[in-house]
Amino acid sequence: MSTYAAITGWGKCLPPAVLSNQDLAGMLDTSDEWITSRTGIRERRIAHVTMAEMAHVAAERALACAALPGRDVELIVFGTCSFEDQVPNMASGLQQRIGAAGCAAMDLNTACTSFLYGLSAATSMIRNGVVKNALVIGAEIISPYMDWTDRNVAVLFGDGAAAVVLQASANEEGLLAEKLGCFGEAREILRIHGMGGAYANRGQLYGLTSWQFDGQEIFKRAVLGMSEASAAALARRGLTAADVQLAVPHQANLRIIEAVAKRAGIPMARVFTNVQRYGNMSSATVPVGLCEAVEEGRVEPGAWVLMPAFGGGLTWCAHLVRWGDRVTPLGTTDIDLPPCERSAVELIREVAARKTTPAPARA
Ligand code: ACO
Repeated sequence: MSTYAAITGWGKCLPPAVLSNQDLAGMLDTSDEWITSRTGIRERRIAHVTMAEMAHVAAERALACAALPGRDVELIVFGTCSFEDQVPNMASGLQQRIGAAGCAAMDLNTACTSFLYGLSAATSMIRNGVVKNALVIGAEIISPYMDWTDRNVAVLFGDGAAAVVLQASANEEGLLAEKLGCFGEAREILRIHGMGGAYANRGQLYGLTSWQFDGQEIFKRAVLGMSEASAAALARRGLTAADVQLAVPHQANLRIIEAVAKRAGIPMARVFTNVQRYGNMSSATVPVGLCEAVEEGRVEPGAWVLMPAFGGGLTWCAHLVRWGDRVTPLGTTDIDLPPCERSAVELIREVAARKTTPAPARA
């Protein structure tokens, strides 16, 4: 009998500090009108804590939702491109926080598609009998790596995290078809200079970034990659757009989402969007969107949910999930982030100040 990997838990964590378009217009030569009309984004969140803390809260909420004790987790896949730690990895830190002693723990970076690539990896391991369950995270802290003087990119991104729990099931549900790919020949259209060991070895302060970002070319390739991947994933199950109850796409730009939905033949009424409130949280956008779609009652038992995405690389993919019977959590937790005393603008000013006063690495 086949084994499937049901999604049994979901949880998100958004930092409370809100950075509005008006806030950005006070810092940069931009306007609410420009940002809203070009991207759909009205506000985004800025973290006052570490990414590890956001991921922990999201993970505990997802575990409570699945009623799975942290100690029973067998695999953690931590999808991110904004690592706070590379050695040891982020996943091992989360393992320690949730008390999943001894479980497999890996980080996975395909930029904004990291959560979905992670969903593929974890689902395969469950279906092949390597593990019985997994916690898959999409978490990002973009704000410390943002060039807050560059209006081309500073208006687009936000911080956040979300997680899902997968558990082995005899029911045919969870991730049932996907298509993964990458336009490696176009990898230079999105490069964050100053984020990676190569820059540090040239004497550049890690995190002191400048963004190489060809917005229009990213736009075109994103629409192409997500549309083709969506068609391929549906074809693998012999389904059409009419079978998709809800699409939860990567949230980078409302116009990109509208273009993909049009090409895929899915009306916007069946497309979940929250880019207006959070901006592009990279790998966190799809799991946060999925969480909110379930919380808002937009995912019915047995629904087909399509999740197309793209990210730096330029990676792209689409994942087709069949939801199970349960659309409500089995449990909840009181865990939360500590309160935030500062405004988003103050948090950004702190980031900018830190970048101009490099401190030597701790011994
Ligand atoms: N405020 C005001 N003006 C701006 C701003 C801003 N925040 N940003 C850029 N501009 C200016 C530029 O300087 C340029 O001016 P110029 O024409 O005088 O040189 C002009 O606006 C560019 O305008 P358009 O070309 O019309 O902008 P476009 O409609 O292409 O929108 C955007 C730009 C929003 C970046 C769009 O191309 C886009 O969304 N691309 C995809 C980006 C994306 O999704 N990135 C995510 C990648 S990361 C990831 O998810 C993996």
